[in-house]
Amino acid sequence: MVKQHDWVAWHAAYDRPGSSLSRRLEVVREQVRHALDTLPPRPPAAPLTLVSLCAGDGRDVLPVLAEHPRRDDVRVLLVELDDALAAAAREAVEALGLIRVEVRGTDAGRVDAYLDHLPADVLLVCGVFGNVPPDDVRRTVDALPGMLADDGVVLWTRGRGGDGNEQAQVIRRWCVRAGLTEVSFTAPDDARFRVGVHRRPAGVLGVAAPHPGTCLFAFA
Ligand SMILES: C[S@@+](CC[C@H](N)C(=O)[O-])C[C@H]1O[C@@H](n2cnc3c(N)ncnc32)[C@H](O)[C@@H]1O
Repeated sequence: MVKQHDWVAWHAAYDRPGSSLSRRLEVVREQVRHALDTLPPRPPAAPLTLVSLCAGDGRDVLPVLAEHPRRDDVRVLLVELDDALAAAAREAVEALGLIRVEVRGTDAGRVDAYLDHLPADVLLVCGVFGNVPPDDVRRTVDALPGMLADDGVVLWTRGRGGDGNEQAQVIRRWCVRAGLTEVSFTAPDDARFRVGVHRRPAGVLGVAAPHPGTCLFAFA
């Protein structure tokens, strides 16, 4: 069987200092840290929840969580299809002694994979929108409000095209049209990565979680 994309090799760019991906990683980690810092307190029976779709080896979440005072208060789910990357994420979870992190080696395009962890207080959709068809991006963005808790935030990324095409601007508009409020948008002039953060405003959206069986996206 031909492997369509070597996602393990893709992760190697994270280890090149100054690469766009390593710079993006710092921005995403900072936003994860900020989200964990600022989310309102919760009773133990209803813990804060973080979900990362297409999580890779979890390096944008796990080291931040490990150093955060709320490390054991947050229920975390990483969903990653590639066996080697899911295994690397599990190894990191163990090495960091994180007790509330689960890694699921399954298809994150299907909401059944993580419905039991919704609504999420922090949702990561990083490295996804540039790899799926535009209709899937739109479908996923439209579903975001129903996947987030009140005041929950989604962190998403999208690269600028080599021809200067800025699909991230389209995604920003779609997020706002879906009812989310922009928290931040990072778009350095000298790099192609873009990182968006959008919040579900508390108490104003009457939207439900996606129906079981819903498929939001599939990698092209
Ligand atoms: C561009 S990488 C991003 C990884 C990580 N989110 C990051 O930003 O470092 C895309 C990831 O999505 C994973 N992936 C592709 N299709 C998937 C699917 N249907 N369900 C879950 N993961 C998937 C790949 O294995 C890869 O790790």
